[in-house]
Amino acid sequence: MNIQWYPGHMTKTRRQMEQDIRLVDAVCEIVDARIPLASRNPDIDSICGNKPRMMILNRTDMADPAATKKWAAYFRKQGMIVLETDAKNRKGTNQFAPKVRELLKEKLQRYQEKGQAGRTIRVMIVGIPNVGKSTLINQVAGRKSAKAENRPGVTRGKQWVTVERGLELLDTPGILWPKFDDPQVGLHLAVTGAVKDDVVDIEELAICLMELLGKHYPNALETRYKVTVPENATGLELLELCGKKRGMLISGGEVDLERMSRVLLEEFRSCKLGRFTLELPPDREEIVHEEG
Ligand code: G4P
Repeated sequence: MNIQWYPGHMTKTRRQMEQDIRLVDAVCEIVDARIPLASRNPDIDSICGNKPRMMILNRTDMADPAATKKWAAYFRKQGMIVLETDAKNRKGTNQFAPKVRELLKEKLQRYQEKGQAGRTIRVMIVGIPNVGKSTLINQVAGRKSAKAENRPGVTRGKQWVTVERGLELLDTPGILWPKFDDPQVGLHLAVTGAVKDDVVDIEELAICLMELLGKHYPNALETRYKVTVPENATGLELLELCGKKRGMLISGGEVDLERMSRVLLEEFRSCKLGRFTLELPPDREEIVHEEG
């Protein structure tokens, strides 16, 4: 899976974040709960230094709940405070402020001891594009809409959004890029829709996804497409099988692979096939699925 996607301004944004990080007490990273590794940025640790860290597993509505629990435990073990959210449906987001206070409890206590109770703490939100940063910021800050833009040449004063008294967020989330050069990472990002379909080959993507599902979750395919998945079937064979069953034929009786590819990806992304987590913490099985 070769993703032809070259986001501009990476260096500029990174530099800006390195500046901004000095202004905050903690960093909150948002990842997609379905792909908690692929949706991370490889440079995040070096950018954050030793700032206290919070990890938000977002889109839990689309991920396998058992896998989300495993990921939460995994990040907690790394010393992070973890929050599970479905920002779109406002689930878990009301725990944001309490979790930040938990993360910074020693600092808050020191402030208290110095007679500075109520001193503002500041948090920066970071994550790859489309992971839900704006949705989450709007939720926790009670705003209607605000989309952080990453347009070249547009500079504006730094703004802070108040979540509650004494807790502010940097209003422009830090936009980072994932590790596109790793083919597995690219596949997971493309399958989940984190990158736009116009930069990937739809059929190639659907074949990879079919292979993954056929290998680990034939039942999900059998239930949805009413087919029997043959042992060791290739992704292409499965795509053809399901396309035929859905009657997606072109002249000559061949399966319209492009159409079936779009259907598969759409149904996977809208969880009609079930809720999947495509990655598990190291040393575990690769994919977990719950019937949708
Ligand atoms: P970004 O700032 O990180 O780029 O992401 P943004 O908040 O714009 O969210 C990207 C898309 O993901 C939005 O959908 C948003 O609604 C959706 N989203 C965010 N969090 C969640 C979540 O926890 N669960 C689900 N299912 N979706 C989430 P969109 O298609 O761009 O808009 P719309 O469908 O909301 O109109």
